[in-house]
Amino acid sequence: MISKDVQKAVGFLNRGEVVAIPTETVYGLAGNIFDKKAIDSIYAIKKRPRNNPLIVHINNVEKLSSVASEIPDIAHKLAAHFWPGPLTLLLKKQVNIPDYITAGKPTVAVRVPDHPIAIQLLADLDFPLAAPSANPFGRISPTTVEQVDSYFSNEIKMVLDGGRCKKGLESTIVGFEGEDVIVYRLGSISREDIERVIGKKTLLVNKEENSPKAPGMLLKHYAPKTKMYLVDNVNTAIQTIDKERVGLLLFKEPIENPKIAHKIVLSSAGDLEEAAYQLYEAMQTLDKMNLDYIIAERFPAFGIGNTINDKLERASVQ
Ligand code: TXA
Ligand code: MG
Repeated sequence: MISKDVQKAVGFLNRGEVVAIPTETVYGLAGNIFDKKAIDSIYAIKKRPRNNPLIVHINNVEKLSSVASEIPDIAHKLAAHFWPGPLTLLLKKQVNIPDYITAGKPTVAVRVPDHPIAIQLLADLDFPLAAPSANPFGRISPTTVEQVDSYFSNEIKMVLDGGRCKKGLESTIVGFEGEDVIVYRLGSISREDIERVIGKKTLLVNKEENSPKAPGMLLKHYAPKTKMYLVDNVNTAIQTIDKERVGLLLFKEPIENPKIAHKIVLSSAGDLEEAAYQLYEAMQTLDKMNLDYIIAERFPAFGIGNTINDKLERASVQ
């Protein structure tokens, strides 16, 4: 069922059911963090490995200390600046946060989503919500109700309709080690924006394999089923096309070429935020077109251009 009825979602969540909820980044598959059965269902529905922990969602910064302990000043500063918003903080967990949320880790990931319906929902519940992105493991995160429904119409009772996600990329995950501020996942907030707020450089630790700290780091992730190649120069890449049905995923210039079956320009104005907003839906659209393969253009390496490149790299043939 797709519905805008927040009280219906409250009812399902209170009964330990899983509900897909809107956030400003992507849709999440939400459940009560204190209900092990609900959390087991999230893992089962997503087919997500149990060693990959979940983000805890709260509706205001005052609740942070009930979820996390030992919060560094710099974390308070980031929360004050970016919440509600697409920043996830990785902090030492409070004792009452169950191990099945953190996959046994001593840290908990937590954020305040910037979406009025998510905030209202959280305010009406007596518990925080764990919510991973509402896609099967390894697939593209959904930014629309329709996309969630196409993934999970049989598995979940309710998708809470909050419209299209206004950011379109996941939250940026930030943790703290000694004096270091570490970005574990590039997301909707750029490293530059974080560095401006904290007044120093961040470290990027997002490419570990095997036992990753934040498994969004897994090299293969967010993948379309159609093969995608990420290239620096699309015009050069077009010269080597050897198939009938090739798609292009472009930043701003609409390249015209008879060899191309379909193309999507993410922002003709050259606006990175707009490109981010369009990215996942464009990947879904191209993926449904029975293309032989997709050529994606590499983005400028600054701001959330770096996030977009990271997502494209993980979605591409390496
Ligand atoms: O924008 C978002 O963050 C969305 C919306 C729904 O809030 N959620 C999301 O969740 O992207 P998910 O589960 O798809 O990605 C969460 C990432 C995973 O890479 C996970 O490994 C990492 O956060 N993570 C969660 N808890 C962690 C922890 N305690 N320690 C290390 N990494 C953690
Ligand atoms: Mg995800």
